[in-house]
Amino acid sequence: MAALVLFGGGGDLAMRMLLPSLYFLEHDGLLPDDLKIIGAARSDESRDEYLAKVRAAVEGKAEADDAWSDAAWGRLAGRLDYLAVDATDPESLKPLKDRVGDGPTTSFLAVSPSLYGRIVTALKAAGLAGEHDRVVLEKPVGRDLETFREIDDAVAHAFSENQVFRIDHYLGKETVQNLIALRFGNTVFEPLWNNLSIDHVQITVGETVGVGDRWPYYDEYGALRDMLQNHMLQLLCLVAMEPPADLDPDSVRNEKVKVLRSLRPITPDEAERVTVRGQYVGGVVEGEPVSGYDEERGQDSDTETFVAIRADIDNWRWAGVPFFMRTGKRLPEKRTEIVIQFKPVPHSIFDHGDRGALAANRMVIELQPEEDISLSVMNKRPGLEQRMQLQPIRMSLSWGQNDRDARPPRRRIAYERLLLDALAGDSTLFVRRDEAEQAWKWVDEVSDAWSEGKVRPQTYAAGTWGPEAATALLASTGREWNTGHG
Ligand code: BG6
Repeated sequence: MAALVLFGGGGDLAMRMLLPSLYFLEHDGLLPDDLKIIGAARSDESRDEYLAKVRAAVEGKAEADDAWSDAAWGRLAGRLDYLAVDATDPESLKPLKDRVGDGPTTSFLAVSPSLYGRIVTALKAAGLAGEHDRVVLEKPVGRDLETFREIDDAVAHAFSENQVFRIDHYLGKETVQNLIALRFGNTVFEPLWNNLSIDHVQITVGETVGVGDRWPYYDEYGALRDMLQNHMLQLLCLVAMEPPADLDPDSVRNEKVKVLRSLRPITPDEAERVTVRGQYVGGVVEGEPVSGYDEERGQDSDTETFVAIRADIDNWRWAGVPFFMRTGKRLPEKRTEIVIQFKPVPHSIFDHGDRGALAANRMVIELQPEEDISLSVMNKRPGLEQRMQLQPIRMSLSWGQNDRDARPPRRRIAYERLLLDALAGDSTLFVRRDEAEQAWKWVDEVSDAWSEGKVRPQTYAAGTWGPEAATALLASTGREWNTGHG
């Protein structure tokens, strides 16, 4: 019998994401029949008390999705157990070892990363790191290359690399996987996917939420480490990587590592030109007045809540094609998108003095709030005008365009895919050690450049798209951020 142990089983991640995901998987009949799930945490509570908490966490989400079923809950509850443990103490883990039995155990560490090293060591000592066992790690693993290595060395003492599943929940998002399908399941895009046809790429991850109560964590990390080192560089890799030979974990991850290795280092001299740091001050977001970061923090801080960077990938495919990335808290919208901006036609035969009329093709891969991939193309405006008039139209490549009568697929929590894959031992959508190291290396160079060049965050009013300098980052190259939203 296989077991999934959720360390930090009563915490925020488990209650908000992991247990609702497990419920949905149960509802859809996707969990392995013999899987046992054990919530493990410090607090001394009974199984019934734990089940009541889990039910409260799951029910609302399931109802909102029209997916609550007593039968599905009954099945999940039937396999769910709770055990109070000190996960850093092998003695305390003994009853857990007895409870999971001899089948493969997947330990999901939904706890503070500062405990990872001690927990994996205790798991090994307690016999929970056998060759068929696995460990799943949430980000952030470390706050730079050095601290990442310290933690990961401890992990490597207990588990071999193919047993380690480093989560980046962006890789579990449907549209991110669809990007792989789009690029490598079609012939029409790949010949254009290079510096001959593409002018530049934009990756935006905008959030309306502020840092709020999370500041003790956030203040040490900032937007660069919290979002760019992981989620955004992963998106960049999937856009930029060469076609892998197959979808085997190592084939895909080898290609991603090559991209990360090709990222041009950002030197202190250049930091001011190609990076923008921002921090929000009070403003209005979605009609509500909100405080600035310093006020939430209770004192002045140099941590950035916004970052925009121009990244260059020094290889044949992407030479001369800048990748602009921006992310921030307290922006006007929750919006995640990748924009592939194609080059304009080399010569316009439609140019009747109205130069702006011919818009270059643009593909927008939207991850949030909607999941959609669209392509804007020029089209003749219907009519009998003497001179042909063009207009851009947007072709949506999302499922809804093809099957208008079908019910939309349920919006999945990214963790559903990732939990299933970890349980099946498929690490394609997880981050390999050398990949994380390479991403840290590049990000460390940026933060070193910031410290050396004394690049301090510029303020932006909450509810705006970051400091002016973020607009200037593109404007100085004759480009602008996508505001058309597809
Ligand atoms: C997390 C970050 O990894 O991703 C958070 O720590 C951020 O700061 C979150 O809010 C965003 O995830 P999503 O899926 O809502 O875009």
